[in-house]
Amino acid sequence: MKAVRGMKDILPVDAARWRYLEETVRTVLASYGYEEIRLPIVEHTDLFRRSIGEETDIVEKEMYTFADRNGDSLSLRPEGTASCVRAGLEHGLFHNQIQRLWYAGPMFRHERPQKGRYRQFHQVGAEAYGMPGADIDAEIICLGARLWRKLGLADIRLEINTLGDREARASYRQALFDYFSAHVDEIDEDSKNRLPGNPLRLLDSKHPAMQDLIGRAPSLIGYLNPESERHFTELRGLLDAVGIRYSVNPRLVRGLDYYNRTVFEWVTQRLGAQGTICAGGRYDGLVEQFGGRPTPAIGFALGLERIVALLEQEAAPEATRPHVYLIAVGEEAAAAALRLAESAREAWPGLRLIANCGGGSFKSQFRRADKSQAHVALILGAEEVRQSTVGIKALEEEGEQMTVAQRDLLDCLGELLARRGILVGPVN
Ligand code: HAM
Repeated sequence: MKAVRGMKDILPVDAARWRYLEETVRTVLASYGYEEIRLPIVEHTDLFRRSIGEETDIVEKEMYTFADRNGDSLSLRPEGTASCVRAGLEHGLFHNQIQRLWYAGPMFRHERPQKGRYRQFHQVGAEAYGMPGADIDAEIICLGARLWRKLGLADIRLEINTLGDREARASYRQALFDYFSAHVDEIDEDSKNRLPGNPLRLLDSKHPAMQDLIGRAPSLIGYLNPESERHFTELRGLLDAVGIRYSVNPRLVRGLDYYNRTVFEWVTQRLGAQGTICAGGRYDGLVEQFGGRPTPAIGFALGLERIVALLEQEAAPEATRPHVYLIAVGEEAAAAALRLAESAREAWPGLRLIANCGGGSFKSQFRRADKSQAHVALILGAEEVRQSTVGIKALEEEGEQMTVAQRDLLDCLGELLARRGILVGPVN
């Protein structure tokens, strides 16, 4: 049996990095006042159709959609923004309120799998509601920049653009439709199919023969109304003021329909073709579109697989090395071993102690202790049990094994670890 194509196991050797990433993200989100919301993995298909858009790749060909036993059309969520808006409306979170929310979890898209692109992948999303100004746009971008700093990630570029308001988008859409229709002989099959429904998506085409045509396409900047233009100017001023570097990419249109005004992507060259590690933007119309009152909104989602891949390139693996390996030989030792292991864990909540279970000779247990890379071995055999003592040995060194009374174990162990610069915290 194999895992489903495009869906990956995260093995123990990688899990430490995932945990480090998830914990760092949580800390940074909390430092900006974001609160967690947990959302279902399955939603009514209509939710995604109406928000992400009928004419998008996601809805057209990437959703895991099925009929449940009642015949309702349900889908595995391809992203979290739609669910977040649905939940906020359902529970009255938006009414006269400011909300800063975050969620995390698996998303599902039936894309062509490749490095950095999977069918089950993980996002952390952040969504802010009720704030119309460019200040929250700037803040949410600062949050991203802070996260990269905290994670020690370098070489991450910020691209921003504005899509204007609905009217600007509509006029721009028409202009693009006219432009590409006039050059229909120069566009690839895929783009031809997209043209009637979503001409903006043609700007995203990676087709080499299209690049020149795309380069000459009309720019949205010319269609912005003064309000949108002011919003974008203000955002750029705020980013300049806080020292965040960015480039304006007028071709950045995003693959989901709900956006307006600010859109942005954090991109790295270090991951090959799938270099966008975080993407988002404003979606001021979505709450109202779902039947709520007009509620300005902005958010982003991080692609965790891609960030983990960067961490693998840049940062040293997180320490998961055990502090202590407890060797216990013989039936008499089992009870004492269990008791000592429990008391040590009780004393230092941060202690990583692996107790040998399943028996074995001294020799084989020492071998396992070495393999575990623990700093210190504790040794219990029949002799130690009889005398209420325990052996202690520093594993990286040649030195002798010491024997101490079991009641003095915690003091001795604490000292031994501290001498190696390992602080497992105070004894409870
Ligand atoms: P998105 O651009 O579709 O936006 O996805 C956000 C990020 O998720 C991408 O930049 C990428 O890092 C990661 N990602 C997407 N698809 C895959 C995949 N197949 N495999 C691995 N990683 C992937 C959204 O999902 C919006 N909901 C973001 C947002 C939140 N906008 C406003 N609020």
